[in-house]
Amino acid sequence: MERTSIGIILNGVTGRMGYRQHLVRSLLAIREQGGLPARDGSRIWPELTLVGRNEARLAEIAARHGLDSYTTDLDAALANDAHRIYFDAQVTAQREKAIRAAIEAGKHVYTEKPLAEGLTGSLELARLAAARGVKNGVVQDKLFLPGLRKLKRLVDGGFFGRILSVRGEFGYWVFEGDWQDAQRPSWNYRAEDGGGITVDMFPHWHYVLEQIFGPVTAVTAVTATHVPERVDENGVTYRATADDAAYGIFELAGGIIAQINSSWAVRVYRDELVEFQVDGTHGSAVAGLRECRIQHRGATPMPVWNPDLPVTEPFRAQWQTVPDNADYDNGFKVQWESFLRHVVDDEPFPWDFMAGARGVQLAEAGLRSAREGRRITVEEIAR
Ligand SMILES: NC(=O)c1ccc[n+]([C@@H]2O[C@H](COP(=O)([O-])OP(=O)(O)OC[C@H]3O[C@@H](n4cnc5c(N)ncnc54)[C@H](O)[C@@H]3O)[C@@H](O)[C@H]2O)c1
Repeated sequence: MERTSIGIILNGVTGRMGYRQHLVRSLLAIREQGGLPARDGSRIWPELTLVGRNEARLAEIAARHGLDSYTTDLDAALANDAHRIYFDAQVTAQREKAIRAAIEAGKHVYTEKPLAEGLTGSLELARLAAARGVKNGVVQDKLFLPGLRKLKRLVDGGFFGRILSVRGEFGYWVFEGDWQDAQRPSWNYRAEDGGGITVDMFPHWHYVLEQIFGPVTAVTAVTATHVPERVDENGVTYRATADDAAYGIFELAGGIIAQINSSWAVRVYRDELVEFQVDGTHGSAVAGLRECRIQHRGATPMPVWNPDLPVTEPFRAQWQTVPDNADYDNGFKVQWESFLRHVVDDEPFPWDFMAGARGVQLAEAGLRSAREGRRITVEEIAR
């Protein structure tokens, strides 16, 4: 079958996200399935060029996956007209200037979140991309997870009646790095390197809340650095200058209150690493990454508060599992397919730089709320 080859520069491919989710689970997986059907009957075929700082590591990854194009010279890769898309999964602090160069080189740009470290930089990138006429997108992978897709289906189907509140619990224990290695890179714990859980997770919460429940209108947050000292990849002790927990209350249009705890200093007593409980007048749901459980108003028990008695109801057993009713592919891959169709066939792609900028805006507002000890209104950004 005829191929429509599309050259993609992958920057940050030696990192956790760049390698596992974007290269292996998305783009190589698309090639393994024979490409992606295009409107003209051909197959969209990603031609990959790996970019990074360490040539030996790039060569090793390329060899492992039968690829032959890699370089440490981003400018040279951007100067090549065969490359139509620039993708960025570098550490956050390196992103803005690389994306700016890619836009100036006329590339369509797709990127990990957060789009940039600050709102001003994010909006500048959105403006530059619009002015240069390049297509642009930001990863919003959680929207494509089975648990959240089932949750969205419940909202769309009117299951909840009037939605009252959302409570989210995200996190797990990230080891300090002394007696066991830390399972996240050390830059995440240094503010000066673009780290911090608010900057990392609020962009996710922003699109989850906005696209499933409604726009965020205000935020109140408390942040903390619970573990002040950690040990890095080289065994060197460093001071954690970034927040490792953020306790946020988000007010949504329509009066829904969402409260989400994000922490790298919490031990998991949950079924999944993130869970959202949604309560509505007609029913409630608890959604994780994969599963979603519901309780309808007609099946709601009537607990009576009496601490003198043992628990009388098997509360967890009273919930029903929402069936898949669909095949769920890897969320990063599904969004990549959408972006490729957007570039090749001009299909709609709502998760653009402006959407990414709104996520960064919420992170900034959250940090400001914590710093100033007050509620911050989230203003609508004019296009
Ligand atoms: N969508 C998600 O769920 C999700 C999850 C985790 C991280 N992320 C985002 O992905 C990006 C990468 O995160 P990661 O966890 O893969 O990080 P990582 O540390 O594993 O990888 C970072 C990559 O950036 C490169 N890099 C370029 N300049 C660098 C510099 N000066 N210092 C250090 N590394 C540099 C590294 O070589 C590596 O390829 C971040 O922006 C992060 O916010 C997204």
